[in-house]
Amino acid sequence: LTESDFVVVANRLPVDLERLPDGTTRWKRSPGGLVTALEPILRANRGAWVGWAGVADVEMDPFVEDDLVLHAVPLSADEIADYYEGFSNAALWPLYHDVIVRPEYQREWWNVYVEVNRRFAEAAAKAAAEGATVWIQDYQLQLVPKMLRMLRPDLTIGFFLHIPFPPVELFMQMPWRTEIVEGLLGADLIGFHLPGGAQNFLYLARQLLGHQTSRGNVGVRSKLGVVQVGFRTVRVGAFPISIASGELDEQSRRKSIRDRAKAIRKELGNPKKVVLGVDRLDYTKGIDVRLDALHELIAEKRVDPTDTVMVQLATPSRERVDSYVHMRGEIEKMVSRINGEYAEVGRPVVHYIHRPVPREELIAFFVAADVMLVTPLRDGMNLVAKEYIACRSDLGGALVLSEFTGAAAELRQAFLCNPHDLENVKDKMEAALTQPRDEGRRRMRALRRQVLTHDVDRWARSFLDALSHSGAAGPALI
Ligand code: G6P
Repeated sequence: LTESDFVVVANRLPVDLERLPDGTTRWKRSPGGLVTALEPILRANRGAWVGWAGVADVEMDPFVEDDLVLHAVPLSADEIADYYEGFSNAALWPLYHDVIVRPEYQREWWNVYVEVNRRFAEAAAKAAAEGATVWIQDYQLQLVPKMLRMLRPDLTIGFFLHIPFPPVELFMQMPWRTEIVEGLLGADLIGFHLPGGAQNFLYLARQLLGHQTSRGNVGVRSKLGVVQVGFRTVRVGAFPISIASGELDEQSRRKSIRDRAKAIRKELGNPKKVVLGVDRLDYTKGIDVRLDALHELIAEKRVDPTDTVMVQLATPSRERVDSYVHMRGEIEKMVSRINGEYAEVGRPVVHYIHRPVPREELIAFFVAADVMLVTPLRDGMNLVAKEYIACRSDLGGALVLSEFTGAAAELRQAFLCNPHDLENVKDKMEAALTQPRDEGRRRMRALRRQVLTHDVDRWARSFLDALSHSGAAGPALI
């Protein structure tokens, strides 16, 4: 296979290898929005994707799947434990999410993180044609920009962080803080969701490395900041990610989905109000917060458990990491407690599903829900909030949204709440449940305007535009 002019590097490939019980394997498309967003650009530019196949020890030559060239980076079971579960998800993930749980800084994990990042950099160096553009994604691969630049100075390199970037006071905990900041500075353009994350990074680059930084009036976008690294200029900016909102809007209008939404309400016992939560089962998501709030609202008789039901869809995630095991136990106890106190036989108050739900079914749940609860303690963006809005062409429904999500910066007409203030969450849930119809339609119309005009395609294009004007400035992508 030939080398590519545009290479995406992410921890996961756009497809996961599935090992079936009979010993055979098949590729399953991973549902993430990133693939959908980047696909047209990848196709038009002889694109390739470098990533892990989702299971241990997959060694194979580059291959074409769905018109994309895929380069699988093999990881052993030990590497998955140290690089993915360990350093990425038990050190970086909690540190970057406000140390909601205590990060563990194990030296062995770090060593393997370095090694695995090197392997990704080498794979990217092989996949990229002369002068190509390489776009590296997320916290699992923060050392790749620098490593790749050393191997291939001819490339234009972009990096995007999909999770929050913490304030310097927290980041300074990291024993390998200098290596990480230097790793990122190997890129020509570093993107964050919010200006706050970009500012945190610029401040850190100055504090930690004494690099000259400035903000504003430089580069193609006046909002980009700049770090001077020797003779190189690294640009830093905010690029809030989104979803394929047009496509989702269209899907949610289909008759099959409408019918399924009605059927769901019926299966739930035709309650007056359906309250919905949809998350990866992660301690950052504040699932416990919304269960606590519901519990107290019922106890205070502000919510009637005979006419209101909650559905919590929780996708299993990182199930071998201790803090995830612990949190799952806590949430399952809370669900049982509410049902133990208030459910009738055959009529639970909280319906809890801990399995992945098919996409179509998920869309039907969005259409069926009167109130959507998105209550993370910290979240880089939160695409579920945007998905719910894209599915509400009927202008029905209400969104309760944590102020601590990136999405809150754009979705100002949601019922914004502070997840650390339980009384506030309760008030906002009650307000969402009782809002007059006209007010709801007005809010939803404004929210939809934002989400439908700011889709993931616009996100990808604006990042790649800025990248093509940065650094070595290779040819612009089509
Ligand atoms: C977040 C991260 C992604 C990650 C996803 C799913 O959105 O920003 O990088 O892929 O969670 O987590 P997982 O560990 O299953 O890849």
